[in-house]
Amino acid sequence: MSSPIFHLDVSVASSSYPILIGEAMDWQSCLSELTQNRQVMIVTNVTVSPLYLQKLKTALSTVQKLGVFELPDGESYKNSESYLSILDQLMTSGFNRDCVVIALGGGVVGDMAGFAAATFQRGVDFIQIPTTLLAQVDSSVGGKTGINHPLGKNMIGAFKQPKLVLIDIQTLNTLPERELSAGISEVIKYAAIADRDFFDWLEIHLDSIMALDAKTISETIYRCCQHKAQIVAEDEFEQGRRALLNFGHTFGHAIENHQGYGKWLHGEAVGAGMVQAADLSYRLGWLELSDLDRLKVLIQRSGLPVLSPIHQPELALELMQRDKKVKNGQIRLILLRSLGEAILTKDYEADALLKTLQVTSGAES
Ligand code: NAD
Ligand code: GLY
Repeated sequence: MSSPIFHLDVSVASSSYPILIGEAMDWQSCLSELTQNRQVMIVTNVTVSPLYLQKLKTALSTVQKLGVFELPDGESYKNSESYLSILDQLMTSGFNRDCVVIALGGGVVGDMAGFAAATFQRGVDFIQIPTTLLAQVDSSVGGKTGINHPLGKNMIGAFKQPKLVLIDIQTLNTLPERELSAGISEVIKYAAIADRDFFDWLEIHLDSIMALDAKTISETIYRCCQHKAQIVAEDEFEQGRRALLNFGHTFGHAIENHQGYGKWLHGEAVGAGMVQAADLSYRLGWLELSDLDRLKVLIQRSGLPVLSPIHQPELALELMQRDKKVKNGQIRLILLRSLGEAILTKDYEADALLKTLQVTSGAES
């Protein structure tokens, strides 16, 4: 077993915690300090469980009591029923306030287990073991947890920082290609909003990332987590800069909503959404046409869609109005000042947005 290749810390006002990134890591040594002689509840799902549950159980041989909660697989189960059933199991199995909840899975499992940990007895310790690229570069870091409401995604939730994020890139070997692409979408997001050098680097290394070359994928995850850690340290509760992490998401959420959750993957919708946000940035005279093209090409090379399936701009606009960033009826968008620099703004012309929604849907070019 090899030791972690990368270690970085996330520091927020209330806590500081490590992110460990490596390949075929010794999970027991990573977890023992936080779990020894404690009650531990693993939350996972039916897809991840046969792949990694045994490895995790073996690593937890020194705990006082071990419970496992297995969720069905899918975004459609990220709901109040699943959440309450996790709490039911914690209650009926006699877990106390000193217990630890471990999320083993992708962002859906992480968000739900985190929300259960945030609310069970007003908050218990929580560890993230993310097993999708999306969860490794984004959702497992920074403490956003929650579930969907029938009327909106992630509408119920809490901020709950984990005590540890354990990223073993070996778990990516079993990830379906489409899910890998969805994760790369969030990787590109960091480069587009904050790091032009990283964007250049991604253009060169994309094929190695998609081939899961260990050194390249570890460095990719590390660079993304560095960005996320820095942004979260500056703005844990999304009062400002953290909103930039939603680049492409207002457009993307409209797509997910239009298609019905689960049909387009979150990362796929964000891929097309980033092209839309970049197209508007270009129309406003901020982003160079050549940089818009570079972004489109990189997203396409990652196996992601670059056109929205919503062919009526007015409908897209209506769906975008449901976004959490809407203030006083105005849609605030994350746009690019240039490649590698983003802002949150409501200062764009409505006509330009409508034109973007038209040309990026493939309905008119
Ligand atoms: P997911 O959790 O649904 O996982 C994708 C699929 O991969 C699922 O079928 C899952 O069972 C499977 N899977 C997971 N790990 C696997 C592995 N190693 N091998 C084989 N299959 C595996 O989706 P996701 O993309 O990880 O996460 C999306 C969710 O994350 C959304 O609900 C989104 O709202 C949320 N999210 C949260 C944040 C945050 O900050 N909390 C950020 C971004 C996204
Ligand atoms: N994924 C967006 C955030 O964590 O703020």
